[in-house]
Amino acid sequence: VKIVRSINAAYNFCRRSPTPTALVPTMGALHAGHAALIRKARRLVGHGGTVIVSLFVNPTQFGPSEDYHKYPRTARADHDLCKVLGVDIVFEPAAEMMYPPPFSTYVDEKMVSASLCGASRPGHFQGVCTVVLKLFSITGPTFAVFGLKDFQQCMVIRRMTRDLNLPIHLEFVETVREPDGLAMSSRNRFLSRAERAQAAVVHRALLAAKSAWRRGETRASRLRALLCKTIAEAPLARIDYAEVVDSDSLTPVRKADSNTVMALAVFFGGTRLIDNLWLRK
Ligand code: PAF
Repeated sequence: VKIVRSINAAYNFCRRSPTPTALVPTMGALHAGHAALIRKARRLVGHGGTVIVSLFVNPTQFGPSEDYHKYPRTARADHDLCKVLGVDIVFEPAAEMMYPPPFSTYVDEKMVSASLCGASRPGHFQGVCTVVLKLFSITGPTFAVFGLKDFQQCMVIRRMTRDLNLPIHLEFVETVREPDGLAMSSRNRFLSRAERAQAAVVHRALLAAKSAWRRGETRASRLRALLCKTIAEAPLARIDYAEVVDSDSLTPVRKADSNTVMALAVFFGGTRLIDNLWLRK
């Protein structure tokens, strides 16, 4: 695996690759969920293609009171995993290189990013879109691979890619879960033992609401109430949002159907976990 830290080098190695390339944008602290994205990237480009993983904790997507400084940074372990998985290029820029002062150009998607995490984390998706567009223009990939745990992020990037005519095929990969159902996330390591023991309630709540829907409950208000009731079974959990939304617009629906997604953000202490379930799946 080639570790590339400068934008010029990344530009040369990635953009000039004669074979198809697939980019997996990450903030590092890689886990089995990222490994699934990297394996998907390899399948997309084949053995002769180039798999690029970016490791960059992007400051612009964190709010002033969020965990940017605390976010896990595990470069050595990340490099080792990339090596094991046969990644060709790791792009690991410094923040000053990605945002040289004075930096004043940002990308704003204004619809899909308005609800859910966009509402509770103002500016978050502006930071995500800006860095993803920069990563796209630096590496010029044929494919880019993202995880569906961040469902809204996938939809925002899909809209940006369409609206800005970016010539990139997007691929979204199913959430990888721990045996008890907790979605894999770099932030899971911040959970205390007691919090970790209760955190699977997030997925359980989604499954409970989905089985209610399967049994014929289509009222979104009831499904939402069921999500909240199940989460309340975990005394250490505090709901940030529990929503039942349309999978395209991400706006709340009144009646749930197969295009509906249920989305949760739940705090355990200072750790915010998100998860979602698409009823059609
Ligand atoms: O999902 C993430 O890890 C980040 O939001 C991303 C897409 C790498 C942008 O910083």
